[in-house]
Amino acid sequence: MTADATLSDCHGGFEDRSGQFDLLGRSWTLLPGVFAPVHTTSTALFSSWLPFPPGGAFLEIGSGAGVTAVTAALAGCAHVTAVDISPAAVANTAANARRHGVADRVRVLNSDLFEALDTGERYDAIYWNSNVIDAPPEFEYLEELRWAFFDRGYATHHRFLTQGPDLLRPGGRMFLGFNTLGNKERLRVMADELGLELATFRRRPGVLGGIRVELSLLEVLVA
Ligand SMILES: C[S@@+](CC[C@H](N)C(=O)[O-])C[C@H]1O[C@@H](n2cnc3c(N)ncnc32)[C@H](O)[C@@H]1O
Repeated sequence: MTADATLSDCHGGFEDRSGQFDLLGRSWTLLPGVFAPVHTTSTALFSSWLPFPPGGAFLEIGSGAGVTAVTAALAGCAHVTAVDISPAAVANTAANARRHGVADRVRVLNSDLFEALDTGERYDAIYWNSNVIDAPPEFEYLEELRWAFFDRGYATHHRFLTQGPDLLRPGGRMFLGFNTLGNKERLRVMADELGLELATFRRRPGVLGGIRVELSLLEVLVA
């Protein structure tokens, strides 16, 4: 399946937007241009599977509507940092942190991966439900929602694997939400070159924008 065909399929699943959705027993605000967790099983599953560090610091890359970041705070993380490259997603995560009364412990930043973080920040867990489709070099991010699905040249995945381990506290853990639309082989080669191991923490069949996929929560293990 080509990247464009996949995007078209995904868009088909995103037309019915009501501005609000229910997931994991809560109601959430959904802003235009933001990845809609209601049309995919990944957000709910990964948010249920993640071992949020009690009293610890949790970093979510690409927080989208903010379901996982807010769930982490409600699950007992003392400090949650949620970043997204999409300004609409940043506003959406902030709105849902306020809506669920955790804005005091969910810091939301507009950031390309780790760029907006302060030097020296360290986390007990780092997580990214990634934009898994390996887009070609000529791919353009014509609309914000494209950031939710496509990673041009897998450059962001490479930076995540390269820079992420240095941001972990001793005993910290790093997770990647992935699925079978992604280029697992390219990811594995990158991990091998960096001396990292990708272990399947949990996996299950699921749906992304109407497409059947296998969802995997991968743990990045530092040798
Ligand atoms: C598959 S969506 C997941 C959204 C949300 N975490 C969820 O599970 O519902 C991927 C998210 O990563 C964000 N993203 C993509 N590239 C990014 C980057 N370089 N830095 C920060 N966020 C990025 C997208 O804007 C999108 O919100």
